[in-house]
Amino acid sequence: MRERPRLFETYPVLKEKVAFSPLGNFPSPVEHLKKLSNVTGADVWIKRDDCASNIYGGNKCRMMEWIIADAVKKGRKSLITWGAVGSNQILSSVIYGHLAGFKDITALYNDQPFQPYVTKNFLISTSLGVKQVIGKNIPVYGIKLISTYMSKLLRGKRPYLIPLVGSSPVSVLSYLDAALEIKKQIQEGYCPKPNYIFITVGTGGTAAGLMLGAMAFGGTGKVMGVRVLEKVFVNERIIAWEMNRAIRFLEKMGADLSIHKAKAADIGLIHDFIGDGYAENTKEGQAAIDLVRDTEGLDLDVTYTGKTMAAMLDFIKRKKGSTFLFWHTLNTVDLSPYIDKLPDLNEVSKDFIPFITSTDS
Ligand SMILES: Cc1ncc(COP(=O)(O)O)c(C=O)c1O
Repeated sequence: MRERPRLFETYPVLKEKVAFSPLGNFPSPVEHLKKLSNVTGADVWIKRDDCASNIYGGNKCRMMEWIIADAVKKGRKSLITWGAVGSNQILSSVIYGHLAGFKDITALYNDQPFQPYVTKNFLISTSLGVKQVIGKNIPVYGIKLISTYMSKLLRGKRPYLIPLVGSSPVSVLSYLDAALEIKKQIQEGYCPKPNYIFITVGTGGTAAGLMLGAMAFGGTGKVMGVRVLEKVFVNERIIAWEMNRAIRFLEKMGADLSIHKAKAADIGLIHDFIGDGYAENTKEGQAAIDLVRDTEGLDLDVTYTGKTMAAMLDFIKRKKGSTFLFWHTLNTVDLSPYIDKLPDLNEVSKDFIPFITSTDS
């Protein structure tokens, strides 16, 4: 486990100003996907953030190294985390918030299409004693978020609102740092320099960090994002804005990336693989999941990484002979220590049952 991010070596001024607490086993491995390369006719590699932790991996582990540390540094006494009922962001912030000693954590949920992992993610958070609130539509959700925040504040529990990944420059730093990590691995010969890196775009924070790193440091290949969330929430302009906000944040901290502002035209974003919407199954996504499992024995998911792999496989058809790096952002660390202690569905508040169980007969 690295004690300090590479970003602090590149910009020592950040050490004193930005909080960081190591959680994952980084650098995460890069591996050659030999069988998938044979099947596709491209040279395919993978960056294994999925398993770079003993507790909970994926892109959220990298982000929590900065976010939870920021909450601690600011002296906050409670956390508020928010997202869809199956949110990996909520689950990871509850797990890592808990480990950092936060006893007062509230999760504010909104509905999403049912997938089996929704129940699992929700029940693990339940078992960790998080307070759970549901906001059934956007106005109610907004009101509940404000009232939860105010009630903690008034009780002297100074809350820290865990940012949705794209909604904070602090979380974007995690994948800016990851760009330095992959650049070094390429320099040291762990993998060839890819022509393209493929990464999932939810709120865009993960891709914004990596794209910013590619722009600022070079040596990584072109980063291609694959959008899995509706376009009103994330698009090229929003990602460029997230990158520019991180540049301004770093400048304020005294770290000058010495690059021009990001423009929407700079952003490589693929829109055609979301299907009917966030967390909806797609035929292409399922085929990609099956192919990667059958060739390489790796797990992808229907909401994020399956759609990204489907987009990459389609792209490869026009770029045979190129080198690709697939950045695995899902957690694949075994969650049995948590699953063994899951509460029964009848211990869950009735308000949540419709959201965490399938309506299919
Ligand atoms: C497994 C996985 N991959 C990728 C993403 C996308 O991250 P971002 O919201 O930073 O675009 C998420 C977001 O929740 C995720 O859970």
